Amino acid sequence: MNKKFYITTPIYYVNAEPHLGHAYSTILADFMNRFYKLMGYDSFFLTGTDEHGDKIAESAQEKGVSPKEYVDQISAKFKKAWSDLKIDYRAFVRTTDQSHKEVVSLFLQTIYETGDIYFGSYGGYYCIGCERFLTSKEIVNNQCPEHQKPVKFIEEKNYFFKLNKYQSWLIDYIEKNSDFIRPERYKNEVLSILKSDQLDDLCISRPKSRLEWGITLPFDDQYVTYVWFDALLNYISALGYPDQKNFKDYWPEAHHIIAKDILKPHGIFWPIMLKAAGLEPYQHLNVHGYWNMDDTKMSKSLGNVISPQSLIERYGQDQIRYFFLKEMHFGSDAKFSEEAIIGKVNFDLANDFGNLVKRTFNMTEKYFAGKIPEFFSDCSMNRAVLLDKIKNTSQQYFDFCKDFKTSLGLDKLWEFIRYLNKYIDEQKPWQLAKEAKTRELSSVLRNILESIYLVCFLLTPLLLETAPLVLKALKKDNSNLGNNQLEDILNFNNLKTKEVLDKIGVLFPKLEQVKD
Ligand code: MSP
Repeated sequence: MNKKFYITTPIYYVNAEPHLGHAYSTILADFMNRFYKLMGYDSFFLTGTDEHGDKIAESAQEKGVSPKEYVDQISAKFKKAWSDLKIDYRAFVRTTDQSHKEVVSLFLQTIYETGDIYFGSYGGYYCIGCERFLTSKEIVNNQCPEHQKPVKFIEEKNYFFKLNKYQSWLIDYIEKNSDFIRPERYKNEVLSILKSDQLDDLCISRPKSRLEWGITLPFDDQYVTYVWFDALLNYISALGYPDQKNFKDYWPEAHHIIAKDILKPHGIFWPIMLKAAGLEPYQHLNVHGYWNMDDTKMSKSLGNVISPQSLIERYGQDQIRYFFLKEMHFGSDAKFSEEAIIGKVNFDLANDFGNLVKRTFNMTEKYFAGKIPEFFSDCSMNRAVLLDKIKNTSQQYFDFCKDFKTSLGLDKLWEFIRYLNKYIDEQKPWQLAKEAKTRELSSVLRNILESIYLVCFLLTPLLLETAPLVLKALKKDNSNLGNNQLEDILNFNNLKTKEVLDKIGVLFPKLEQVKD
């Protein structure tokens, strides 16, 4: 039985159309899903849309349509964007799905019956952008610093969930499971919130007199469920909580991807909700930074958004995936600029990788009529060194990427790609050809072609168009490891002597730098 892996993105609010920030988290999740499959795992990838709450109701009103009409339209735009970006999710959850609403009801009823929900009254400062009450420490100049909008004082009778009761349990849990929230700085941020103050209990309802657009509480039909409480449950409703096989199979291997904006609901509310219902916490909360433009976070409210499709059209699918996963160091903010994309495409993809493949294919064509040449053991041409390097490289690539450190993993792979270019320069196949050293020439080219095969195999989760194209040209399927171990393919016997290579064109055309 294959090992399981469960990867999720945040479910995105449908008050905005998909933009680059959403695309990054989704591409990262898509990469992780394909990467774990490559390692032989049975992976389940979930994404979706978050469709209830004040924010959505407000946006629908502004557009003059009913909330349902509005959420249908925007949710479809997310689906369309992910299809254009070749995102390979297994399930797309919508919080307006009947199956999701039933899980929210069941979950609420369960913890209501265990006594973790009570009725009370509360006054506090609310940020519609965050869809939650902020603490006095979080408010700066009467504004939410994240959304740069004034907070609103709201006082009403509501239902509350006993967060406070589980505060010391959560501190203990996070301390004992040191990479539960990662990278470490975000674990520390959550611990510092938990240790600096008593947590307020969480207000989990909204009176229908103020907001109707939500899931009715199972124990009071005058109230709807608070949007965050509803939304977080998507991660288990999509698996068929409480008794379906997917829930049993995948929940124990849950990995969430979020950006730091929604650390508190995921790092504090969610594990406590799970604990209260008697469920195991997720495995890891993987938190990334922001994509900034001119030092400001890209977001709809700040108005500086770019559609992911327009970028793919302009630069190409693989190019954008590579840029995203290479440029952002997991956990830190990254700068988005078209100059940076062009730089990465021209140097890493066109010069290093594209050129390596092109010159190797050209030489095979020129010297061996395009047939994969034989390796002769009496002229190894540093084969052992190369093989040793690719073994080390792939180990490091796997170790970094499995922990979401894609930028470091790709660095390692590119060091090897650059080394291969150097290997060609040192071995000088053109010189060997001139001197009629056919056996040496044949062995050198075979060594490089076998290396290119392994590099492309490792890149299949990332370069969705180019890696399969090169593998096909090498007459190899784009298969995953299946039941094999990585060691089984980490050799130079993957290609077949005398197979004729497909011809390939320029893999990554050079791009012109944008002029001011
Ligand atoms: N609906 C909630 C999430 C509920 S999950 C149970 C929400 N939605 S959102 O549409 O605002 O999406 C926030 C997420 O979008 C971030 O956590 C991140 O994954 C992604 N990003 C949005 N803008 C981003 C950047 N500028 N940079 C990086 N990621 C960004 O919050």
